[in-house]
Amino acid sequence: MHIQSKLPNSTTSIFTVMSGLANQHNAINLGQGFPDYQMSEELMNKVYEVMQKGFNQYVPMQGYMPLRESIAANVEFLYNIKINPDTDITITPGGTYAIYTALTTVLQPKDEVIVFEPAYDSYIPNIEINGAIPVLIDLKFPDYKIDWNEVRKKITAKTKMIMLNSPHNPTGAVLSEEDMKELSSIVKDTNIFILSDEVYEHLIFDNIPHQSILRYPDLLQRSFVCFSFGKTYNCTGWKLGYCISPAELMKEFRKVHQFNCFCCHTPSQVALADFLKNKDAYLSLSGIMQQKRDYFIELMKSTKFDLLNSSGSYFICAKYNRISNEADKDFASRITKENGVATIPVSSFYKAGTDNKVVRFCFSKKNETLEEAVGRLVKI
Ligand SMILES: Cc1ncc(COP(=O)(O)O)c(C=O)c1O
Repeated sequence: MHIQSKLPNSTTSIFTVMSGLANQHNAINLGQGFPDYQMSEELMNKVYEVMQKGFNQYVPMQGYMPLRESIAANVEFLYNIKINPDTDITITPGGTYAIYTALTTVLQPKDEVIVFEPAYDSYIPNIEINGAIPVLIDLKFPDYKIDWNEVRKKITAKTKMIMLNSPHNPTGAVLSEEDMKELSSIVKDTNIFILSDEVYEHLIFDNIPHQSILRYPDLLQRSFVCFSFGKTYNCTGWKLGYCISPAELMKEFRKVHQFNCFCCHTPSQVALADFLKNKDAYLSLSGIMQQKRDYFIELMKSTKFDLLNSSGSYFICAKYNRISNEADKDFASRITKENGVATIPVSSFYKAGTDNKVVRFCFSKKNETLEEAVGRLVKI
């Protein structure tokens, strides 16, 4: 049998490769983005309780309504905007699925989508599988800022969408109010959609306000905004998230969603509907993660890595030019095998493999894990 690949250029993701290598060599995994500590006991107990109460069958395809109501209440509290939980929110199996569904909803063959690189690895395949064309723009190294003049130059009659991600994976860069003004002026009087990946919405440091699209009604009217409960509640394996968009756009999003997964895991939704009311559970996250970032920065001072700035997410990038000139993939692979610490080479977030000789560390780990890892990195 011959199958014509829809994604001929896709290979095994770098996260799978590096995690496999980490397991094989018993390395500490600071590569893949997930916490190595337990999620909330209370939330786990709630899931068990609601299962026993019988919440084990399908919920509506848009998601469990009390959960959508809790999301709308939090959005109003955080961003001062009223979202209709009936028409503007859909619960999805994770942020990645929300992104894929939004792209599939909007894209026609040959449409162009502006993507900033380095970019989360699902974006480009998600565009290409829809027959559309990613138009790539590099974030300016080493701050990873957007050059809006370059964006203006790359916009054509075929530009269908601009994809944003703040706080940003893999760099920890965040968008500013100025960025949002630039974006508004660029899309004004156009039919360009925006996809805003805000899965790290609550992981932002140094009292910087998160520039959610939800703060900007003129932008929101053309946007799909994607979130992840996995990132907010330390349960990435739950694969649960949601998308917010205006009713007209959401109507089309739901047409794609209903024939794909239809609806998501019921007990988790019922438990979260209640747990979301606890504001402290998400408001405390940035403080906890900022402490981890700062602790990691402090520990890393005794190594030859030079850390770049990280204002959000749970990632921080580092230059290693004081250690080696190797390509980042070779370097990351070698230190996993020889020194027992796995990272992610940042070139794998570029379609063309642009190599600034930078690796990404994930610091959402127990202090002991960070100490043990840096204890090994010091020896390089
Ligand atoms: C930028 C970005 N978007 C989306 C996701 C996916 O979120 P989820 O696990 O909820 O699909 C991730 C996960 O690493 C991410 O880093």
